[in-house]
Amino acid sequence: MFKIKLYTAGSGSISAEALLLSDRVNYTFHGSQYSDDEVFHLKRSLDAKQTGRSFSQASSKFVFEIDTQKGRHTSLENARKCGHALYAELKNIKASEVLLKADGHADYLYAFAEGLALSAYHFSKYKKEKPDYQIENIWLDSQEISAAEVEKLNALTESVFFARDLVNEPVNFLTAMQLSTEILQAGKQVGYRTEVLEKQKIETLRMGGLLAVNAGSVDPPTFNILEWTPDNAINSKPIILVGKGVVYDTGGLSLKPTPNSMDSMKSDMAGAAAVAGIIRYLAQTKAPLKVIGLIPATDNRPSGNAITPGDVITMYDGTTIEVLNTDAEGRLILGDALHYARQYDPELVMDFATLTGAAVRAIGISATAYMGTASADIRREVSEAGHEVHERLVEFPLWDDYADQLKSDIADMKNVAVGGNAGMITAGKFLEHFTTGYPWLHFDIAGPSFLPAADSYRGKNGTGVAVRLIVRFLEKYMTDHSNPTPKA
Ligand code: BES
Ligand code: MN
Ligand code: ZN
Repeated sequence: MFKIKLYTAGSGSISAEALLLSDRVNYTFHGSQYSDDEVFHLKRSLDAKQTGRSFSQASSKFVFEIDTQKGRHTSLENARKCGHALYAELKNIKASEVLLKADGHADYLYAFAEGLALSAYHFSKYKKEKPDYQIENIWLDSQEISAAEVEKLNALTESVFFARDLVNEPVNFLTAMQLSTEILQAGKQVGYRTEVLEKQKIETLRMGGLLAVNAGSVDPPTFNILEWTPDNAINSKPIILVGKGVVYDTGGLSLKPTPNSMDSMKSDMAGAAAVAGIIRYLAQTKAPLKVIGLIPATDNRPSGNAITPGDVITMYDGTTIEVLNTDAEGRLILGDALHYARQYDPELVMDFATLTGAAVRAIGISATAYMGTASADIRREVSEAGHEVHERLVEFPLWDDYADQLKSDIADMKNVAVGGNAGMITAGKFLEHFTTGYPWLHFDIAGPSFLPAADSYRGKNGTGVAVRLIVRFLEKYMTDHSNPTPKA
């Protein structure tokens, strides 16, 4: 794994170098080692309005320019995309390290480095031929970025990669048990505590949703509790993150068709991966925040013993559910986890799930659908974080009308709504039933969690979506709440 480092005079000379321009007018090429010829070419390519283009002479120097006229969020994202373009250039010349500079804007330099770092992801575990290029050091030339901030960027990159790896692992390796092992191992590395409830304990607790989904499986389920609860936490009530850990979703007896439907369903634990990634980051950076992760994990398969459409099951909270579609399994395991969250008297509960195809149809792969009962302030803050890191959120309503469609003739609720319209909302209404007693947000990441084609620094396949989003949200949350200001 490469490292992002602060460049100081003693760091020596770095063969490749890249400059990010955001203010062409004021940039004087002051202190740069660009030759007159290079400056000439640079100015010419910039004048030709080749925004975001690099130019490279044989010299391994690259220049990018971002257009800052469209606002801060767009500029930051453009800086990340320049980082992605730079990765391709560095790969071309097989540069093992690079020195990054920007014309005075530390946050653009940070985003530039982030885009470059996130582009350097490979999942080559199962390939005989390993990639022949690897970047080793990303140096930042900045007086404004602190060593602590650089370490946060390293932790963030590693945590996103951790989440991506988990998503990319197929189920013939990553069973529910193996997911627990991976979570345990990462916890040992960075310092969070993990408790794994195994099948017998899950039965004793009567987590009927998780057990129902697992009924058709030959592999046992797990319920994972990840705890990052440092003594210097600024919150007394914990923040709880719940992640859908369906390590493979065949649909069960309501079998999914394949291709194009079942074949990417190893990614149905992307919510779990995001939760593990976020807590990994918090522990690695020793964040002063009490956070607990809850991950119910199982595969969803048909078999002689699988739940059948029409079965009535009893959830962990005692609610009975008529299961009319075994492919609506995520809400069953999440309902149990959301009820489990209650015992912690949480300040806020956020769940992450590849929950519905409806979310994908509504907003595609470019955004996450979210909804919930948390305050307008919290919703605004999380949405703002989405723009900051370009993991954008679209809010959907949780009006009670939608719950009518979940009424069952013979049980307290059905697991699928009549008609099937607005499926991401009816799924949200189902979950809401299990969230009494605390403010809650639900993130349906079915679209952006697994990409069929490469998309800049997000890459192809597992993206690790929601890690950067929630890290950003919680970083801001910690700053805002550590110096409490009186509420008006
Ligand atoms: N895991 C799927 C949702 C999904 C779809 C994730 C596409 C990623 C990409 C979920 O378990 C599911 O099957 N949902 C059903 C619910 C329906 C039966 C009410 C769906 O959305 O079709
Ligand atoms: Mn399903
Ligand atoms: Zn699913």
